[in-house]
Amino acid sequence: MDGNGRWAARHGKARHAGHRAGVRAARSITKACVEVGTDVLTLFAFSSENWRRPIDEVNSLMRLFVEVLQREIDEIHERGIQFRFIGAREQLPEILRKRISAAEVRTANNDQMTLVLAVAYGGRWDLVQAARRVAAKVRAGELEPGEIDEGVIGRHLSLTGLPAPDLLIRTGGERRISNFLLWDIAYTELYFTDALWPDFNPGELENALAFFRSRQRRFGRTSDQLEAVGD
Ligand code: IPE
Ligand code: MG
Repeated sequence: MDGNGRWAARHGKARHAGHRAGVRAARSITKACVEVGTDVLTLFAFSSENWRRPIDEVNSLMRLFVEVLQREIDEIHERGIQFRFIGAREQLPEILRKRISAAEVRTANNDQMTLVLAVAYGGRWDLVQAARRVAAKVRAGELEPGEIDEGVIGRHLSLTGLPAPDLLIRTGGERRISNFLLWDIAYTELYFTDALWPDFNPGELENALAFFRSRQRRFGRTSDQLEAVGD
């Protein structure tokens, strides 16, 4: 969700106001995703690298996450959304960790959509934590090195149990992944838009979905092979 700061500058506001506008966009896109029948929506709110930002901005973002979780959790639950967190939780302030666990526990049995919030998350961090846990199993004699395959790695990554993402949307004009889900997006369709995140509304989402529907997903096969099987 990129472009909050530039949105604020364009409107003559402080960066923090941009992040607040970003929350409003996240809220309306979450609702729109439930309405179009999305199974899983993952929001990348704060990366492993965002700790490098000025301490005031980092602190105000952490406070904003606490406030938003507290304010929105009732509605998330009422809409039947399951909340899940990915990222280095031990790096977060305790109050935020508590809100996250409470939201996960409360919504654990919901099945309308899974909303994954990525904070202090990085695709490389995810691979490192998976490697450590797999290595610990090997050391404990629970797993042979030769048994480590894509399934084993996948089951130790943060999105374990969820399907690989079909579509990745990056707002704010950059054409890069910036350490978001790395393993998981091997065959994900990538959609880049210049829209700043606070301006990304349900109409913009519809454009992204139209792009997605126009793609032929071959997963390494040829078009002829897919046509032989039929769509
Ligand atoms: C993304 O917006 C939000 C977070 C990383 C928390 P930015 O803050 O990166 O906005 P720009 O890139 O400065 O416009
Ligand atoms: Mg940015």
